[in-house]
Amino acid sequence: MAEAKNLNCSGSTNVTDIAHPLPPRATWHALEAHATRLGASPVPSLFASEAQRYAELSLSHDGILVDFSKQHIDPAALGALLELARQCDLSTAIGALFAAQPLNFTERRAALHMALRGSCAVPQRDQAAMRDTSARVRAFVDGMRNGNIIGANGQPIQRVVNLGIGGSDLGPRFVVEALTRHADPRAPQIRFVANVDPLELDLVLAEADPHTTLFIISSKSFTTAETLANARAALRWLRNGLGDDADIGRHLAAVSNATSAATAFGVPGERVFQLPEWVGGRYSVWSAIGLPAMLALGSAGFEHFLAGGRSMDEHFRDTPLQHNLPVLMGLIGLWNASFMDIDSLALLPYAHALRSLPAWLQQLEMESNGKRCTRDASAVEIQTSPIIWGGSGTVGQHAFHQLFYQGTRRVALDFVVIAGGTDERERMLVDNALAQSAALMSGRDLQAAQASLRARNLPETEVERLAPHLVCPGNQPSTTILLPTLTPYTLGQLMALYEHKVFVQGWIWGINSFDQYGVELGKDMARQLASGNAENHDPSTAGLMAAVAAMRARADEQS
Ligand code: F6P
Repeated sequence: MAEAKNLNCSGSTNVTDIAHPLPPRATWHALEAHATRLGASPVPSLFASEAQRYAELSLSHDGILVDFSKQHIDPAALGALLELARQCDLSTAIGALFAAQPLNFTERRAALHMALRGSCAVPQRDQAAMRDTSARVRAFVDGMRNGNIIGANGQPIQRVVNLGIGGSDLGPRFVVEALTRHADPRAPQIRFVANVDPLELDLVLAEADPHTTLFIISSKSFTTAETLANARAALRWLRNGLGDDADIGRHLAAVSNATSAATAFGVPGERVFQLPEWVGGRYSVWSAIGLPAMLALGSAGFEHFLAGGRSMDEHFRDTPLQHNLPVLMGLIGLWNASFMDIDSLALLPYAHALRSLPAWLQQLEMESNGKRCTRDASAVEIQTSPIIWGGSGTVGQHAFHQLFYQGTRRVALDFVVIAGGTDERERMLVDNALAQSAALMSGRDLQAAQASLRARNLPETEVERLAPHLVCPGNQPSTTILLPTLTPYTLGQLMALYEHKVFVQGWIWGINSFDQYGVELGKDMARQLASGNAENHDPSTAGLMAAVAAMRARADEQS
């Protein structure tokens, strides 16, 4: 891995394995000018002037429909964004991504997670290892479902706890949660623990029996402090419950590339499942990191998930830019973040099953594109990744949607909707999603506010007093993604759609979507703080360390 210190924006690192044309300044300026002009025409007015707007801006692929027509975009802006993509040679970049070019230019390696979905070739040198891992994973999954994976005293394993953080948690957690209804009845109970706060593991272990519990230590590097601390705590819990002489290895598996560190920890060698180096943590759910999802869905169910991802890969790779869902989603997101001054994107899945979509996308998007240093080591001059947040509908409607209606900020919104539910309440979800996107676009002006108050027969003085408080400016830009149903296949499509959207944006901004040097700074600081030396810290941090030390001393005295 390259040293972070070589990569500051004024440094000289300049890896140019693939041509990455950045657009001339004039292109950015033209887009800025266009955004300013378009700002004077709110989204509803665009429907009035473009008769075919919905037909032209809602696109389908393989059962998914994505409607961009409520975005604050017009044909000229879209044309300019597509021209921007051409100037950046986006089509060539997409080809290079699938051809295993080292687009992760700081770490000088490819980002080839699509190969796990069978959408492009696995490099020859990795084929044998991948075949071996996938055969061992399949045997493990089948063994678990057939009751052949047994604990130290011979009882079948019935509960699996995944210990991991970041990409080693968010992806598999999201998939397992999202596809609860597709879980095989023979699958073990699956739980996830990410936080190093003991409460999270304690809560999971409170309902677990050590004789029938297995831990997956999921860490590509096997160096992540939180995961290893939780793994050590799990080991203590197993020893306490099973006795020091028990064969604890029967209760452990690992997903990691650090095979010797995992085996030194006590994981049997045949239960250490590797993933290729070219799979980044936040793109790793398709690899052995997806083991919890494989256990829940079975190998065949997981294959459907991969097939959904593959369908989106093929669409992304083979479809002209102007009809390409991830490309359009990327360009429109970039338009909002870089030109319309919209600094956040709220993910609004109208499905309890998709409640962890915002958390999964936070890592995918913010760890990928929360960057400022371009390939040629200059600083980007426009805003990059928006802040990703959100929560599931309709719950959010009774909480943070108020800010969308009457707050002072514009927020871009992604509504993710499962259209084909047959239960009355599932239909309510869909109706609510469509109602929210419509109301947030149209808003309510003063006249409409007055009319609604008069309809309640209020005296005219009350109408005048209250009406301004009912005004909602509307004009919040949104995309609506309609999935026919939620299955392993459609979930795979959805997740690959977002992955490729992130790639499109990173490429156009000229940053590396596949490294994460920033987070290393925080890790270094945590190590320094753990050493307890306050001397080298700023006065605030040193003061807080002293206050913590005093509180700890009191807590120790009282315990
Ligand atoms: O700290 C960030 C990060 O490196 C993520 O990119 C990664 O998904 C996570 O930590 C976990 O890493 P590992 O799988 O090596 O424990």
